Amino acid sequence: MELPQRVKLVDVGPRDGLQNEKQPVPASVKIELVHRLQAAGLKEVEVTSYVSPKWVPQMADNHDVMAGITRQAGVQYSVLTPNLQGFTAAVADRPDEIVVFGSASEAFSQKNINCSIAESIARFAPVVEAALAAGIRVRGAMSCTVGCPYEGEIAPQQVAYLAGLMKGIGVQRVDVADTIGVGTPRKVQRAIEATLQHYGIDAVSGHFHDTYGQALSNTLAALELGVWNFQSSVAGLGGCPYAKGATGNVATEDVVYMLHGMGIETGIDLDLLIDAGAFISSFLGRKPNSRAATALLTKRAG
Ligand code: HMG
Ligand code: MG
Repeated sequence: MELPQRVKLVDVGPRDGLQNEKQPVPASVKIELVHRLQAAGLKEVEVTSYVSPKWVPQMADNHDVMAGITRQAGVQYSVLTPNLQGFTAAVADRPDEIVVFGSASEAFSQKNINCSIAESIARFAPVVEAALAAGIRVRGAMSCTVGCPYEGEIAPQQVAYLAGLMKGIGVQRVDVADTIGVGTPRKVQRAIEATLQHYGIDAVSGHFHDTYGQALSNTLAALELGVWNFQSSVAGLGGCPYAKGATGNVATEDVVYMLHGMGIETGIDLDLLIDAGAFISSFLGRKPNSRAATALLTKRAG
């Protein structure tokens, strides 16, 4: 079986990770985290979101964070925009890519963005149009592609339906997200195959939360289908405020350790990445939620 020889990782820790933290994280700490991630070789970072501060207070400093980053050539900075109001605020901060976020589950769509799947697409359409007209790339996050905290198991047809709608409004690439981390390898492959009905393999990424410890296996299952774009969070930060009990994304350190061990290039310096994870974990007063980081930090200390 031919696996991709190179993988591109988007670190979503500053957004997907920190959005779920109860304690305020100052913009200066978020900025330093982004700087450390780019120094470690990340070429894409999901920095923040332009959502309602009443819904997600931790992202209320979106402008300060975007304005405070010293940008590095060749690095793409993406932000979430659920509607035109969010897009208008975001565009002033010059993101390279905006992310609209829909769900394969009706119930999750309602809880997360307060509208149905069809309504969400109608809201995204002018956002996508405006972004493309402004030369900003557009990604679509597809939540709950395997399971939903409210509806249970999600059929691949629901994923195909959402992917088709995203394609129809001009979204350029999509994330197959296992928002609550319940997926297992074959189910994740079915969700990816459903997405491939509408998007080419280069336009599909895997976004796996690790709630049940399946995220690395799911990553390998996606690699087997040829997927070479993935999202992960440094130190395994995060979760979604509207998916109770769901833990963070798979830790970037664990994915990088696995890929390098398989001879797959990422362009990332694992030592610097571990430093970035240790930095944010120490601010949050806990250990990195990454097995590889824990092992390598223990080895360093010894
Ligand atoms: P709504 O209440 O339906 O919106 O929220 P509305 O248009 O009726 O407006 C109500 C109020 O919100 C108004 O303020 C608006 O100004 C304000 P008020 O007059 O009451 O003071 N508002 C906004 N403020 C700032 N930025 C905006 C904005 N839009 C309206 N863009 C909305 C709809 C989508 C805004 C709301 O439901 C929301 O913010 N939800 C948060 C969703 C979120 O951030 N979820 C977490 C990210 S998704 C995720 O983590 C999953 C992912 O990682 C993939 C995966 O793992 O599945 C991507
Ligand atoms: Mg997520």
